[in-house]
Order: sequence, then structure tokens, then C-alpha cells
Amino acid sequence: METALRQTPEKRQVFFLTILLLWGEAGSETIRYSMPEETESGYLVANLEKDLRLRVGELATRGAQIHYKGNKELLQLDTETGNLLLKEKLDREELCGVTEPCLLHFQLILENPVQFFQTDLQLTDINDHSPEFPHKEMLLKIPESAQPGTVFPLKAAQDSDIGNNAVQNYTVSSNLHFHVVTLSRADGRKYPELVLDRALDREEQPELTLTLTAVDGGSPPRSGTTTVRIEVVDINDNAPQFVQSLYEVQVPENSPVDALVLTVSAMDLDAGIHGNVVYSLFQGGGASQPFAIHGVTGEIRLSKELDFEVTNHYNIEIAATDGGGFSGKCNVAVQVLDVNDNAPELTIRKLTSPIPENSLETVVAVFSVSDPDSGDNGRVVCSIQNDLPFLLKPTFKNYYTLVTEGPLDRESRAEYNITITVTDLGTPRLATQHTITVQVSDVNDNAPAFTQTSYTLFVQENNSPALHIGTISATDSDSGSNALITYSLLPTHDPQLALSSLISINADNGQLFALRALDYEALQTFEFRVGATDQGLPELSSQALVRVLVLDANDNAPFVLYPLQNASAPYTELLPRAAEPGYLVTKVVAVDHDSGQNAWLSFQLLKATEPGLFTVWAHNGEVRTSRLLTERDAPKHRLLLLVKDNGDPPRSASVTLHVLVVDGFSQPYLPLPEVARDSVQDEDKLTLYLVIALASVSSLFLLSVLLFVGVRLCRRARASSLGGCSVPEGHFPGHLVDFSGEGTLSQSYQYEVCLREGSGTASPHLSKDSGDFWKFQYSI
Ligand SMILES: *[C@@H]1O[C@H](CO)[C@@H](O)[C@H](O)[C@H]1NC(C)=O
Ligand SMILES: *[C@@H]1O[C@H](CO)[C@@H](O)[C@H](O)[C@H]1NC(C)=O
Ligand SMILES: *[C@@H]1O[C@H](CO)[C@@H](O)[C@H](O)[C@H]1NC(C)=O
Repeated sequence: METALRQTPEKRQVFFLTILLLWGEAGSETIRYSMPEETESGYLVANLEKDLRLRVGELATRGAQIHYKGNKELLQLDTETGNLLLKEKLDREELCGVTEPCLLHFQLILENPVQFFQTDLQLTDINDHSPEFPHKEMLLKIPESAQPGTVFPLKAAQDSDIGNNAVQNYTVSSNLHFHVVTLSRADGRKYPELVLDRALDREEQPELTLTLTAVDGGSPPRSGTTTVRIEVVDINDNAPQFVQSLYEVQVPENSPVDALVLTVSAMDLDAGIHGNVVYSLFQGGGASQPFAIHGVTGEIRLSKELDFEVTNHYNIEIAATDGGGFSGKCNVAVQVLDVNDNAPELTIRKLTSPIPENSLETVVAVFSVSDPDSGDNGRVVCSIQNDLPFLLKPTFKNYYTLVTEGPLDRESRAEYNITITVTDLGTPRLATQHTITVQVSDVNDNAPAFTQTSYTLFVQENNSPALHIGTISATDSDSGSNALITYSLLPTHDPQLALSSLISINADNGQLFALRALDYEALQTFEFRVGATDQGLPELSSQALVRVLVLDANDNAPFVLYPLQNASAPYTELLPRAAEPGYLVTKVVAVDHDSGQNAWLSFQLLKATEPGLFTVWAHNGEVRTSRLLTERDAPKHRLLLLVKDNGDPPRSASVTLHVLVVDGFSQPYLPLPEVARDSVQDEDKLTLYLVIALASVSSLFLLSVLLFVGVRLCRRARASSLGGCSVPEGHFPGHLVDFSGEGTLSQSYQYEVCLREGSGTASPHLSKDSGDFWKFQYSI
């Protein structure tokens, strides 16, 4: 056995490795040559002449041929020179694949003698191929739960080169989770495995892309890459987590049912069903809890109405559960906000009614107020109407008293409706009103009051006994028995007046009665006092003056004073025969005890012996001659006169006069009656008075004016009634003529008369009659 290694000069890079002379008897030997693949054609592989130690030209002469078992002729033998040349470029991978060593077997056949030579050409590998991965991309699905250290096989890269030129190392692009290890198979091929260094988290990085590089051992090395895409498979490794662990929310208590309170939200990083979160109320509150949560949206809504006054805050726990059964929790603190939804309440604790009207600072009512709201919503103020005499006083805590401001007056107001208004200070303000009625009870603080301070009653004289002559009346503004009035006659101070026999009064209704017939001529007026007394305790009373005026009736006929009619021998007047016409024969004097018209007398000649001879003056009763007497006239005359008053019906009296005609005037021969003496004595003055009267009549108007002036003056001076000058005032009736009892002159002519009460038997009375005019008269 022989191994030859020959270094070819120049371009011939041939390793002549061995020449094996394998056989002896058959004369065959093996010559082995080696050359790298991909050598250009024309390459001198070997010189067979030299290597086989043949003679020059022997190859040609012996008809040397090269046989190759394949179809192709890879080598060409130049028989002349013995050079074995490469006919075409050889690719080791094509010819041998993975077989190593890659030997091409040639046979050299020589003739004369036939001789075989085995020639092997070994192709050595060069790094002419890069590692190549079967796919551009590899997909790995790795659950995120994979533990560090877990190995994931990867597909190896192919490299047609062999040996050191094949894949030697795998690397992966730098990343946090994996590294790659290069492992060798039994046949020496390398394959990669991916090793997990750090746990994966889908939620953090659901997908990784690595670049896997395969490097061969050539020089220079060649490499191939592929992409390794890693999908991290989710597992339910995340519990739902709320965005906030504590939610705080404020809800007004008047929020309607179904109002949205809050929306909670939980995150689950897992995917798919593992990330589907369902919300629920976890705990707290129990069934009474007024909240409901929507499982999907996380909206918390009111399921009942809230009431701050019952519960002012809630703590609820919300759970969020994912499809894998993990759950997370959060707390929700719900603060209920007070809303002024409660009106204040008022409770009357004590009410005193009625209250006596004169009571001072009396507590009428005690009440308490409350408002369940809080803060300003629960603060209250109380008030009553302004115009009432009551005061509100705060007392203990939320208690108030209602007291009177001062004494009340039942007579001005007997009942008060007091409206207590309680208002809170919330927004909006709420108010409660309560009306209490306070009665004011009566106290006897008002005396009866007469409707008039004085009463004037008129009674026609000669009335029937027990005649109702008038009614007095008093009122009492108190009530009940305090206003029950009893009327009474008060004792009079006038001892002359027997009041109890004159007047009686109905104690209940104040009706006054005349007990007996009154006589104007005896009693023209009288006064008394009446009292009205209530039945209070103590009783109160008041008085009024009652004046009774008796009205005159024509119940007295005229009474003739002169000449006296009851004398047994009638008076005889003397008439001188030579008397001139108008001679005053006599004057009939008469009185009437009535007054006014009833006392206004007129005279009339009824019958005469010689009718044309005498005339009677109607108003003064003067009997005068109307013509001269003649011889034929009888010496004796009898005249019948009628004296009539002006009453209705009139009353009258008749007078009979006897006249004796004498030829010469002589002293009267008949004595004058005593009663008439004064009159007779005055007879002389009569003529003088008559003259004066006539003159007065003529100046009546002038005197009327004087009277008026006098009235005015006297009115001013009228301070005292007694001793003063009482002059009637007002209109003087011209048509009425009063007759004085004794005087022969009509009082109509005397306008200023001052008489003193009690001067003589004749006493004048001035009385005001209906306020119209004054009558002046004598009463005898
Ligand atoms: C493979 O390549 C890596 C990175 O270049 C290197 O650190 C490692 O030593 C190599 N392995 C071998 C067996 O050559
Ligand atoms: C008080 O109220 C009552 C009942 O409403 C009513 O009848 C009465 O007249 C009122 N009194 C006053 C003084 O207003
Ligand atoms: C006549 O009447 C008067 C008055 O009434 C009386 O005073 C007088 O006595 C009477 N005369 C005779 C005679 O009756």
C-alpha cells in the first residue's frame, strides 16, 4: 500500500493523496486523487503516465481509456501527455449529496496487455451553500403559563454542505424571554431548541417575533435566517381589577328610583372569556340595600328611594368575576345628601283657652317644633301674624311658648285665630302652619251704658193709669251675666215728689209706666234718675236722668173772675147817657187754668137787649158802646157774653152783664166784692194802661226788635237761674195772647218781665214747649 501526496505546482492545487496498488495478481491498482469541488474545467487532475510509471507514449499505444460509470464524461485523458483533465465543473452536493467522502470512481483500461487501473477522484467540500430554513416563518403557540426552562424544538436549517461547512450554530435575536441552544443529532447535524428563560405574559406581550439565525462553520461562515413568531396563549392568570379600589359618590336623597349612582369598571387583562367581567353586589346592606348593579355595564342604580333621615351613607362591595372564576372587589362609599324634603313639624303641647281678658302675660300655648332634615334644612324659625297681641318666646330647646303681650279686651275681640308658621332654612324653604283659636273670656269690665244720658218723656195729662210712657235702655258690652241688665228707679232727692206712686219701671226691659193719671195743672214736669246694673261680680251700674213733661189737655173751662157770676145779686154797670161812642162800659176778666191754646180766650156777645148799642172786643173782653145813647134807649140792659178758650174741643163760660143807663155819672152804689177789689182799684188805671197799650200796639214791631236785642243780651248774662232775668228766647207767637190772672193788660205786651219765684200767690212758669216757643203764664 502506498500513499502519495503530490503538491501540484502553479495552478494545480491537487492533493495527490494516495496511490493504492490494490491488486497484484490481477495487475490492478487504485490511484486516488482529490480536488475541491467547483474547480474550473480544464483543471489538471493528474498525470497518469507519471503516476502509473508508464513509459512515454505508452498510454497512447496501449489505447488507454477512462471509464466512468455515469453517463457523463467528467474527465478527459490526454493519452499523448498522460494528463487527466477536468472536463467540467463538478458539484460535490450534486454528485454525492451527503455521502462523505465523495469519491468518483474511474477505470483506466490499457490494452496489450489488458490492464485495469482504478482511479478515485475525491471531491472535497467547499462552503458554497448557506444554511436554509424550510420556511420563512415558524409559528409557536406557547401558553403564558409555561415555566422558565421549558424547551421548544425548532426546525433545523438545511445546509447542503457537509462537515464543518454545515450548520454549526443557531442564534436568536436578542430578547427577554428566550435563548436558543444548538444541539447535535447522532449524525452530527445540528438542530436548535428554544429555551424559555423568563415567563411569558400575554397581557404584557401577546406575541413575540424572533429571528433565528443558523450559522455554518465555513470560512467565511454563511448564515440563514427565519422568523419565529411566538403567540402567547392566554390562560386565566389575571383576576379582574377595578379601576379604583374605592369609589366615593354622593347621592341626593330625593334621587328617583333607577337613577344612575355610579359606573364601576373593572379590567381583566386576560383575553376572551377569561377577560369577560360580570359585576355583582358582593356584600353589605343585605336585602334592604337600595342599589342594583348591572352585570355587564357596571352601572349602579337606585333600586329604592333613599332617605337621608334613615341612612345617610352606605358602604357596598362590588365584585367583578371573569369567566374563569377569578374575581376582584372594590368598595363604594355612597354618601346620601340631605335634601330639604321634610317640612317642619309642629306639635301643640298645651293650649289654654279661653283666657280671661284682663290677664297679663299669660302663657296661651306651649308647642314644640322639629324638622328631621339636617343642617339648614333642619333649622327652623317660628312666627305668628304681626298684628296680634301675642308673643312667641323660645324656651327650652325646640320648645316655644305663646304668651299674651298684655291684657286683652274681649269687647274688641273675643277670638283670635293665631297661625303659627314654622319655616326651615333649607332650599327650597318648607313651612308648616298651625292655627290655634284662643277664646277670650269675659270679665265684668264694662258698666251698662244708657243709650242717652237723659230721656225726655211726654205724657198727656189725664192719662189712664199704668200707661206705658216710654222706655229707657242701656247696653253692656260684656257678655253673659256681666251683660244682664236690671233697671231701677233711683230714690229722688225731692221730698215733694212721691215718685214711687207716680212711676214704675220694668226692671227687665226698662219700660216706664205712669201709675196714675197726671194733672198738668198740678204737676207739669218732674225728673228722676234711673239706674242700670249688670249682674257681674262685682256688679257695675250707671245712671240716666229721665224728665217727664206733662202735656196740657183742655180740661178746664174759662173761669170768669169779673164780674162774679155766683153772686145772688148781679153786678150792674153804670153807663152815663152822654157817653161817647166807644165808651168803656166794663171789662170782662176771665182765666183758664190750662195753658197755651187751651188758655187763649176769646169773648163774644151772644145776646143783648139792644143789640146795636154794645160791642165786645173779642180779645180783651172790653165792653164798649158803639153809638151815642138816645132818649129812646131803655135804661136797663142785659148782655150775655160767651168766653171761649181755643182748645180742641173748646170750652166756654157765659157771663151775664147788667148795664144801667144813668143821666149823670155818679159813684157806683154797689159795693165791690173783695176778690175784685184790686181790679176795681185798678179800674182807674185802666184807661191809662189802655192808652199805653194802644201806643204799644202801634209800635209792636219796634218792640219786637227790642225784644230780640234783649234776648241776646240776657242770654249772655244768664249765669244763674234764680234771681236772673229769665227772658224767653226764640220766636214769639203773635197770634197767642195770654191773660194774666189779675192784670187787665195782656202779657203779650210785656216782654221783659222779671219775677222772683215765690213772690205772692202768682208764680210764673217758664217752660219750654217742644222747643218751638215759650209760653208765659200764671198758675193760681
Ligand atoms: C454559537 O454562536 C454564539 C454566538 O455567536 C457563540 O457564543 C457560541 O459560542 C457559538 N457556539 C459554537 C459551538 O460555536
Ligand atoms: C277663626 O277660625 C274659625 C274657623 O275657621 C272661623 O269660624 C272664625 O270666624 C275665625 N275667627 C276669626 C276671628 O277670624
Ligand atoms: C162766688 O164764688 C166765689 C169764687 O168761687 C166765692 O169766693 C164766693 O164766695 C161765691 N159767692 C157766693 C155768694 O156764693
